[in-house]
Amino acid sequence: MGLRKNPNNMNQKIFIKTFGCQMNEYDSNRIFDSVKKIGYEKTEKYEEANCYLLNTCHIRDKAKEKVYSEIGRVKKIFRSKKKPLLIITGCVAQAENQEMLKREPYIDLVIGPQAYHKINDIIINYTKKKEKIEETEFDAVSKFKYLSKIKNEAGKVSSFLTIQEGCDKFCHFCVVPFTRGPEYSRPFKQILDEAKYLVDNGAKEIILLGQNVNAYDNEGYRLSDLILNIEKLPEIKRVRYTTSHPKDMTEDLIEVYKTSKKLMPLVHLPVQSGSNKILKSMNRKHTIEEYLNIFDKLKEINPKIEFSSDFIIGYPGEEDQDFKDTFNLIKRVKFINSFSFIFSPRPGTVAENLDLIEKKISFERLEKIQTVLFENQIRANNSFKGKVVDVLVENLTDDKSKAFGRSEYMTSVIFNGKKNDIGKIVQVRIKDSNRNTLFGEIITNSDQKVA
Ligand code: SAM
Ligand code: SF4
Ligand code: F3S
Repeated sequence: MGLRKNPNNMNQKIFIKTFGCQMNEYDSNRIFDSVKKIGYEKTEKYEEANCYLLNTCHIRDKAKEKVYSEIGRVKKIFRSKKKPLLIITGCVAQAENQEMLKREPYIDLVIGPQAYHKINDIIINYTKKKEKIEETEFDAVSKFKYLSKIKNEAGKVSSFLTIQEGCDKFCHFCVVPFTRGPEYSRPFKQILDEAKYLVDNGAKEIILLGQNVNAYDNEGYRLSDLILNIEKLPEIKRVRYTTSHPKDMTEDLIEVYKTSKKLMPLVHLPVQSGSNKILKSMNRKHTIEEYLNIFDKLKEINPKIEFSSDFIIGYPGEEDQDFKDTFNLIKRVKFINSFSFIFSPRPGTVAENLDLIEKKISFERLEKIQTVLFENQIRANNSFKGKVVDVLVENLTDDKSKAFGRSEYMTSVIFNGKKNDIGKIVQVRIKDSNRNTLFGEIITNSDQKVA
């Protein structure tokens, strides 16, 4: 299906704009791997595109409006040119489906996240018949079967690999179960094959992705099995996974931190709130005590392990004491990097119709929480000053004068590296830092270190 070349589309240029999470980034790359087969080249210059694809996110308020205002911009850019084929994919496409075609006639095709295996056929069909369609069926099995036949040609030092899609948890604030459908774990072998192909294309780090990545379960194979198998590939230097749910932080996964040689010591484990009352009303299915138990176990295995998290501030019913609980949790865990957002009511979710707390209070709380989270981040980065860190080199900086890589904790590191350091782990002495970046000087290439 859809693998054949379409001569009508040869030398077409596609511009892809991606909003949202890493899974959308992965999807955008895979969509491109697919449309390449029908003659599309990627362009970074939107004004020269014949096809403009917006891969959208629906997680918070205004997401939909952002998409329509982006379409307004596209209309302006192409006012005096041939209209590009406009395709909307991603979570807004899923949530809004045919409504989008009705509201904005400039849109040609609407394709949901579980229907990307059909994209080539849909485009070919549109080119022939000019028939606008919306395709939002949930069919993860066919999607991944199709995508596994098309090589993942991301060719990046640090490459994403989606292993699990969808969510069955139904947190009361979240649209993901509606936009990505039920939980689905890709076949174990299909993932290992894709990992090998990524390695052949230059990947040195693989980041395993899923909306609930640690719920991965395929015929008894768990995330822990994937980590231990992927790290056997000699070219792989680092393995990471995101995003995980505390409820699925099973013993086998915790144990992997004892045995794995390449799993990085940063655990992104969103907690959302430090208050058991709020966690319950969010339907998060775990308590703060259970969360801290995971934290303590991992710290005991390896004190170098650090945590990062997502927080929702101003959830309906959040009182001063609940907010203080969140504050106290942050003090205890000392998250080194976190995302925090004010609660945004989402259509179709249980929390949609709950009474909102005063806006002013939410903003004040967000400011307070971000101050302490940023302080933690600055302190953590500062603590590396004068120390030597292992950096996986990903690229040169835009002006090519320096190299860019990441520490074990995912922090950006900029240093005096060269092009031939790309793809290697080098040792960098940190001289300076700010909230997001470490700056340093290379000392050795640790790939050359004698064991
Ligand atoms: N599956 C992950 C988990 O269980 O934590 C999170 C996935 S979600 C794509 C990423 C983050 O968006 C969440 O951790 C949450 O903090 C935030 N988020 C989701 N829905 C939200 C809402 N309605 N308002 C504000 N933030 C929200
Ligand atoms: Fe959303 Fe909750 Fe599922 Fe995460 S676990 S994707 S927050 S419903
Ligand atoms: Fe957004 Fe969908 Fe990801 S709503 S965060 S793009 S799963």
